[in-house]
Amino acid sequence: MNLPKQVRLVEVGPRDGLQNEQQPISVADKVRLVDDLSAAGLSYIEVGSFVSPKWVPQMAGSELVFAQIKQRPGVTYAGLTPNLKGFEAALQAGVREVAVFAAASEAFSQKNINCSIDESLQRFVPLMDAAKLHDIRVRGYVSCVLGCPYEGAVAPEQVASVARELFAMGCYEVSLGDTIGTGTAGATRRLIEVVGRDIPRDKLAGHFHDTYGQALANVYASLLEGIAVFDSSVAGLGGCPYAKGATGNIATEDVLYLLNGLGIETGIDMEQLIAAGQRICTVLGKQNGSRVARARLAQASA
Ligand code: HMG
Ligand code: MG
Repeated sequence: MNLPKQVRLVEVGPRDGLQNEQQPISVADKVRLVDDLSAAGLSYIEVGSFVSPKWVPQMAGSELVFAQIKQRPGVTYAGLTPNLKGFEAALQAGVREVAVFAAASEAFSQKNINCSIDESLQRFVPLMDAAKLHDIRVRGYVSCVLGCPYEGAVAPEQVASVARELFAMGCYEVSLGDTIGTGTAGATRRLIEVVGRDIPRDKLAGHFHDTYGQALANVYASLLEGIAVFDSSVAGLGGCPYAKGATGNIATEDVLYLLNGLGIETGIDMEQLIAAGQRICTVLGKQNGSRVARARLAQASA
């Protein structure tokens, strides 16, 4: 088996995780979550979004979170930006890495960012120019890579075409998002095979939501295809406001357990990670979405 020796986990809990929560979450609790995650050894954390507060109210005030986190050397703290306005707000907040997001399905693009796929890619051009000018790295997401809540099946070739555009305009890495978590291991391998014809596999990442319980299988399928970067969310927090019923990303604890079992290096401390997840679940009054965390916490309290 030719698996990667090291994997980078991109922690998206503070953004993808919290964006879907209806109840107010204080800046202090968001800051504490990010600081707990960096202390646990996560080297990349998506801290928040610079999107319209009318569209995603929970992400309003992300600049305050950026201002108050303890920035550890060697950790990347990223912000999600849909357009130049969002990029400028991120820059103002001192953000040094941003992510843009496009969809592989027209209907989802309209619902999520109110424009067509082509228009969204056009919107990124001035953002990419500004990022280059300020020496800011830009990561790209493609949503709905294994299915769309409005259109159903999505062809791998359509995903490849959007991913290619993002890569060509300067995204250093493209994260393939199974937004609604309907993908299966075989479809994941086929997708990587098709997208990987145009983009080197070390420039691709997997972003699997766990709605159908397939995320861990899809991570493993991706590892077999040579993918070594995965987005995950502590305690399995989250969902997308424009994909009803979609649950959170694969829980960071669960993917870490898989990687530890395979002897793959991540630099993350499981116990600290579980504590970080449990703390935010207590704040939210939610059950922990990580199976590993639930098992360990049950053991500890037995
Ligand atoms: P729009 O309404 O078409 O934008 O929204 P507009 O350009 O017509 O502007 C309308 C108003 O929004 C104006 O204000 C703008 O100034 C303001 P007004 O004059 O009405 O007072 N505006 C902004 N405000 C703050 N920040 C901005 C910004 N831009 C414009 N950046 C827009 C277009 C893209 C802004 C909107 O649709 C939006 O914010 N969408 C965000 C949706 C979102 O965050 N979705 C969740 C993240 S994506 C995701 O979760 C998927 C992912 O995890 C991968 C996966 O799972 O597949 C990444
Ligand atoms: Mg997502």
